[in-house]
Amino acid sequence: MNKKPVIAGLRSIKLEMMPGEYYWCACGKSKNQPFCDGSHRGTGFFPVKTVITEKKLVKWCACKHTLTPPFCDHSHRNLEGYTPKEEM
Ligand code: FES
Repeated sequence: MNKKPVIAGLRSIKLEMMPGEYYWCACGKSKNQPFCDGSHRGTGFFPVKTVITEKKLVKWCACKHTLTPPFCDHSHRNLEGYTPKEEM
């Protein structure tokens, strides 16, 4: 099966995170980006469990094409529609 995730955004979502357990949305369909809201059911995608051990700024991937999920690796720059000026 050659499934492709929905592109939820064309740049990362930067959030100051507290220590804890998080579930990153891999399918791109969640309405609570970058986290899972259960919308992946039936898509073949599953959320990625992530443990944050200390308070820190996290760049979550929103395009869902990162090679280092759940974190942004700048793969979004290679996607159609991406424009550099959108980068913050
Ligand atoms: S937002 Fe997906 S790699 Fe940057």
